[in-house]
Amino acid sequence: MILVTGGAGFIGANFIHAWFKHTDEPVLNLDKLTYAGNLANLAKLNDDPRYLFTRGDINDRDLLGTLLNQHHPRAILHFAAESHVDRSILGPGEFIQTNIVGSFHLLEMTRDYWNRLPDTSQDGANKRDFRFLHVSTDEVYGTLTPEDPPFAETNPHLPNSPYAASKAASDHLARAWHHTYGLPVLITNCSNNYGPYQFPEKLIPLVIHNALAGKPLPIYGDGMQVRDWLYVEDHCLAIMRVLAAGQPGETYNIGGWNEKPNLEVVRTICGVLDAARPRADGRGYAEQMTFVQDRPGHDRRYAINAAKIERELGWRPGESFESGIVKTVGWYLEHADWVADVTSGAYRQWVERQYGGRG
Ligand code: NAD
Ligand code: TYD
Repeated sequence: MILVTGGAGFIGANFIHAWFKHTDEPVLNLDKLTYAGNLANLAKLNDDPRYLFTRGDINDRDLLGTLLNQHHPRAILHFAAESHVDRSILGPGEFIQTNIVGSFHLLEMTRDYWNRLPDTSQDGANKRDFRFLHVSTDEVYGTLTPEDPPFAETNPHLPNSPYAASKAASDHLARAWHHTYGLPVLITNCSNNYGPYQFPEKLIPLVIHNALAGKPLPIYGDGMQVRDWLYVEDHCLAIMRVLAAGQPGETYNIGGWNEKPNLEVVRTICGVLDAARPRADGRGYAEQMTFVQDRPGHDRRYAINAAKIERELGWRPGESFESGIVKTVGWYLEHADWVADVTSGAYRQWVERQYGGRG
């Protein structure tokens, strides 16, 4: 059994699906179901005996203690977070509470649980083989100029947004819990993900959604900010590899060697949509591109040096941006109901009816 936090979110849900493609080992998903957590992402698993779900907050120590003692996970994969930079600028409070304080509570309850595990065992959780894998971002490293080499694991943490600062803080906590208490912690810092089930507030799903809805495609500033894009399934496979073979106490950068300016990403999406679902008036979706005011403190460039995970663990991305973006646009075209659901409020009402007062 593994415990996944934030498994109803974008990467967590993709991770659980990827996990069951490779193993039958059960998963317990602990998720608060914020606006970003959607059980429809895991609907295929509703009757699957390998999958368990609990709605709850990583800040709830009593719940964490109960779950750990009941289910005896052999690993914890910590995805739960507030994850959107623009939201962190508008209201950083939740980012501090979940990403920093929540991670602290989770680390403390994990330490308590880990201390009580047997040193070794033939099967089931034991102290030696237990792992806490902290899922983090390349944004903790700050920003690069066009001339800088990509981020390596040895780069200092120089976060610029409240989101990045909150993730950097939790990276430091995870690291310290290894060095001070010996907790077998692994940290991964990944670049921008894209793919199925991503909430349509991040650039790629937002552009697909707005294009189809006939709305403007907002380009912040000059649109020449660079991100390194990785197809989400590749990220999930990398996490599995780090869990299986990573060295406790180590950090692994994960990236696609796929730097692209935002303008190119948006134009590519428009081109794929022009071919797959042409506009009724025969014009191109790129006409909807609209330059808007830049994000405050906007990081200019992220780029990942993923040589360590390639060299030490043999992981490499399988998907190119060109193939991944076609798959992603195709997924959103086929799942208009999912997008309508997560953007309409109907889903939130269902969550409150189903779980009201228990989250
Ligand atoms: P997401 O916002 O889609 O999902 C986050 C999930 O965490 C949601 O299901 C939400 O309900 C849950 N959650 C939030 N607060 C919680 C709490 N207090 N207790 C329990 N559950 C809570 O995020 P994502 O894009 O899937 O990102 C997952 C992780 O990967 C995050 O830690 C993020 O920092 C990291 N990451 C994301 C990217 C990216 O491009 N999206 C890249 C690198 C790293
Ligand atoms: P985003 O998906 O929010 O990820 P992050 O900020 O974590 O990298 O944004 C990706 C890039 O796209 C970033 O440079 C900001 C830019 N962007 C836009 O130009 N317009 C938009 O509407 C959004 C959401 C992002």
